[in-house]
Formats: sequence, structure tokens, C-alpha cells
Amino acid sequence: MPASRPGATGAVISGWGTALPPKVLTNDELAATMDTSDEWIRTRTGIVERRIGGTTVDLSVESGRQALEMAGLDPSRIDALVLATTTPDKQWGTAAAIQHELGLFCGAYDLNAACSGFVYGLVNAHGLVAMGADRVLVIGTDTLSRITDWDDRTTAPLFADGSGAVVIESVNGPGQLLGWDLDADGGALSILQAEVGGHIKMEGKEVFRRAVRIMVDSAEKSMMHAGVHPEDLALIVPHQANIRIIQAACDRLGVPIERAAVVIDRTGNTSSASIPLALADALESGRVKHGDFILLVGFGGGMTAASCVLRWGGGID
Ligand code: ACO
Repeated sequence: MPASRPGATGAVISGWGTALPPKVLTNDELAATMDTSDEWIRTRTGIVERRIGGTTVDLSVESGRQALEMAGLDPSRIDALVLATTTPDKQWGTAAAIQHELGLFCGAYDLNAACSGFVYGLVNAHGLVAMGADRVLVIGTDTLSRITDWDDRTTAPLFADGSGAVVIESVNGPGQLLGWDLDADGGALSILQAEVGGHIKMEGKEVFRRAVRIMVDSAEKSMMHAGVHPEDLALIVPHQANIRIIQAACDRLGVPIERAAVVIDRTGNTSSASIPLALADALESGRVKHGDFILLVGFGGGMTAASCVLRWGGGID
């Protein structure tokens, strides 16, 4: 890790990438194996299909490689790899395996904050930049299909697999991150959990109720720190758990749902990957221009919540 450099404390996203397993699992296919229906899943969750398969390492290597290519960076120039995941391939070393396969020569660590993990990782990476790192690769990947109980209709339709990555690079100036908030409430752990080696167990209604509240609380804190108001936001990138949660959070924040990035119909809930997948989709659809304010906001098991406000393009004019 380089020594701290005075005057260069900010960062901007200079590349991104995504990876989804090739296998598509539709609602109708699920309905053929359990007592559910396409209509129930669509109307209660917004999910139409999801992608299943792959390992956390393989998906991360794919999204990470794309992000490095877009940033035009040789892998040797990355100073740190932060892997947000709640489904590591092994008890330890998942980030290190990705580091090795990508040809990075830097520190690499797993970060588990459930579905808030990517935003936790992004804030972490900005902290590394503030301490002297020049380029950090942040990857959010989950392979939830491996911890889903495929006989439980109350959870199986929701969860899926995927990966999203960004490279952040230091700039002279304040950079893109204007405000952030990381939150956790271990008192609510029991409503959404998975024992080591076990399946996801969830009190859906209670998670729904709390999710909206903690997303809105966290988003409001980040906006306050950033000095930004809901009407200033060009884009909100929420965790993709349920379209009705996204709608309710947008309503309470006073942001029209049209400003939300939504990929849940195609991806399901990919936990740590959901925010970078939705962000990449919005960027690739040309929805973001230089100087736009973007709010990322997630919630997840723990329960955790995390949000941040970015000014797209940051310190680069
Ligand atoms: N197909 C058909 N019927 C179903 C299904 C299904 N897949 N699942 C449940 N039902 C039934 C229930 O048994 C219930 O029947 P009953 O009325 O006869 O008892 C009925 O549908 C309604 O069930 P509810 O649980 O009340 O449905 P709800 O509208 O709350 O939707 C859902 C359930 C989709 C799980 C919702 O509560 C939710 O999205 N909660 C939040 C989940 C979440 O965000 N989890 C992840 C967060 S963090 C992370 O990503 C790891």
C-alpha cells in the first residue's frame, strides 16, 4: 500500500463490469416444481426470471476483468481488492482467489454485510484511497442459489446469482463521494438469517416493513451529509429485493420511481451484486450524465443498511 498522499483524497469510478450465469430460471419453471405461479411472483415481487449457477470466484473474475478493461488498467496497477459477498466459495480466501486469477498484486479481502455489502465496500474503498491507495477494485458477488431452500416457496422465487464490479481511482480533489451512511441493527438478526451451511430463513412481512424504514433513514442521512435533496437526484440505485419495496422507499423519499434503476425483473435478488448490476444497467442505458447526483441505497440481513450519494464524474471536469 502506498504512503498517504496529501491533496488527493477523492476518487471516481473509472470502469465497471457485470456477470450473470447463463442459466435462466423463469417463474413458470419454478411453478413447475413448487406451489406457486408466475402471476403471484410477478405481482408480489416484480421478478420475472433470474440467473442461477456459477461460483463466486468465477462470476467475480468475469465482472472484475470487464471493469479493469473499461478503466484501461493493467491488473498490476490495482492497490486493493474488496469483495462484498455473503456467499464466499470457501470459509476464507475467496477474494484472494479472485486476486490471483485476475493477476492482481495487492491486498484482497472478503466483506460480508449481506445485501448492503457493495455500498459498505465502496465506502471502504474510498477510505483506502483517503489513506493513499490509487486504484481499488470493488466487486459485489453472490451465489444465493447455493443457500436457497428450493422446496420453500416463500424464499425460493426471490434469490439468485450475479456479480458487479467497479474500479475507483484517486483524483486530485474531493472526488465523487459526497455523503455516506453505514448502519446495522443486530436486534433484528432473527428475521432474516442463514446458519453456516444452512438455508436462508426469512420473516418476509417483517423484513419488508423494516426494509423500507431503514432504507429511507439511511438515504436521508447520506443526502444530509452530501447537502443534496431528493429533487436533486438524477438516479436512485436501490437494492433489488422487491419492486414493492423500491416503490415504497421512492414514495417515502419523494423520488419518482422513474428515477430508480430497476433490474429485479431479470435478475431477482442477487444480494451484494444487486446494486452494481442496477448501476451498470443505468449507466449503459445512458441514464447518467456528468455531474448528476446518484443515490445508492441497500439493506440486508443483519439487519444492515448502507447508502451513499455520488456526483457522477466527481473531481474530473
Ligand atoms: N407463491 C404463492 N403463494 C405464496 C408464495 C409463493 N411463492 N409465498 C407465499 N405465498 C402465500 C403465503 O403462504 C400467504 O398465504 P396465506 O394468505 O394463505 O397465508 C400469501 O401468499 C401471502 O403471503 P405474504 O407473506 O403475506 O406475502 P407478501 O405480500 O408479504 O409477499 C414477500 C411475500 C414477497 C416475501 C414479501 O414479504 C417480501 O418481499 N419481503 C421482503 C423480502 C426481502 O426483501 N428479503 C431479502 C432482504 S435482504 C436480502 O436480500 C438477503
